[in-house]
Amino acid sequence: MAETTDTAKLTIKGKTYDLPVYSPTAGPDVLDIRKLYAQADVFTYDPGFTSTAACDSTITFIDGDKGELLHRGYPIDQLASQSHYLEVCYLLLYGELPSAAELEKFESLVTNHTMIHEQMHNFFRGFRRDAHPMATMVGVVGAMSAFYHDSTDINDEHQREVASIRLIAKMPTIAAMAYKYSIGQPFVYPRNDLDYAANFLHMCFAVPAEQYNVNPILARAMDRIFTLHADHEQNASTSTVRLASSSGANPFACIAAGIACLWGPAHGGANQACLEMLKEIGTPDRIPEFIARAKDKNDPYRLMGFGHRVYKNFDPRATVMKQSADEVLDLMGVENNPILQVAKELERQALADPYFAEKKLFPNVDFYSGIILEAMGFPTSMFTPVFALARTVGWISQWKEQLADPQLKIGRPRQLYLGSTPRDYVDIENR
Ligand code: SDX
Repeated sequence: MAETTDTAKLTIKGKTYDLPVYSPTAGPDVLDIRKLYAQADVFTYDPGFTSTAACDSTITFIDGDKGELLHRGYPIDQLASQSHYLEVCYLLLYGELPSAAELEKFESLVTNHTMIHEQMHNFFRGFRRDAHPMATMVGVVGAMSAFYHDSTDINDEHQREVASIRLIAKMPTIAAMAYKYSIGQPFVYPRNDLDYAANFLHMCFAVPAEQYNVNPILARAMDRIFTLHADHEQNASTSTVRLASSSGANPFACIAAGIACLWGPAHGGANQACLEMLKEIGTPDRIPEFIARAKDKNDPYRLMGFGHRVYKNFDPRATVMKQSADEVLDLMGVENNPILQVAKELERQALADPYFAEKKLFPNVDFYSGIILEAMGFPTSMFTPVFALARTVGWISQWKEQLADPQLKIGRPRQLYLGSTPRDYVDIENR
């Protein structure tokens, strides 16, 4: 817990209250208002929690003005270019970069837990073929608590560790199975001779009828996409996982709740919505029409892949993602991809438009990821499952951190009540 570095004074109805101030290692100071209701009989009001720290954490830090993203202090651009996803998973989970021996042991542990219980295959067959893969993932991940009873006790450190590895190891298998089921192809089992990203691509695109060799450039780009989506402070889905976990719910239920929240187009669903928007725009000459709609106060339309609650300069992940987009499209011989041309022209026009500059709306992580995933052969419905797969380690790391917090209590926000004051029931004949 941070030390008190100052005291803020709040005067309400003639009484003054002292609020402790804590100074973090990075970011703004925070006011501790935990005793305010008991002392002053008032709530604070912050819909959307734009100015509220829900917890303390040592995992990830974002500086929205500088466009900085650190995982355990390491900048995302360095991790994306010099590390790889499972090493970043280790860093997020345990707080330090692993030694060679630690990394080998961790990778072996994950690799050897990538299969799911064979009976779980039946779950997929209960869905319609046209079910959105996110619906399947929410269902199957939640149902893991019906199979893995030996890793649901959140008060047992060993069980927490087993659940963590199981979720990180099995999420690619579940996501790939959801995809295969949706296209009527047979499930492809994981292979222990492939690395994490190559294994996922193999499970998605291999068919029993012929040998499928994973292109190493695509595997590297896939791994980088996983790394760029691994964790992101207390975003909506991570906050959902923390809130679910605060009631003592088992890890699989908590992660299923995170997947459900991520699905929304304002959050992780934006990569699918962004590509659908780029396809709707179709050609660069139609861009002004869509920008005008996004600027129209009377039109709720927004440019998908633009804007961010925290980043008010640029999303450092989008910068790295844009580099990967160029590499993958070059490889796939689609550097002249019309969608990419629309994306680049849309970015240029939006960034030149005063509306977007004033409101600090810049491309976010979802703007380019969809272009890469489509070039790899994924349908748009698989974009958010890829995001959920990658974010699992962030959800798990934050879940573990919260459970180890001695201050942990069930999350229970209050409200500003504007409803009816007490009134008596009226029989229907008198209404
Ligand atoms: C992710 O939180 C995270 O960390 C999330 C994430 C992660 O890794 O977990 O980074 C992943 O969710 C990225 C964001 C993906 N979502 C989208 O790309 C959807 C499009 N973006 C918007 O819906 C929006 O920008 C949000 C939801 C991302 C952020 O919204 P905020 O911070 O709540 O800002 P706001 O809605 O209050 O908007 C501020 C102003 C508004 O105008 P005014 O009312 O002040 O006149 O900016 C406008 C908005 O209308 N605005 C946009 C816009 N986004 C905001 N106008 C046009 N197009 C947009 N995309």
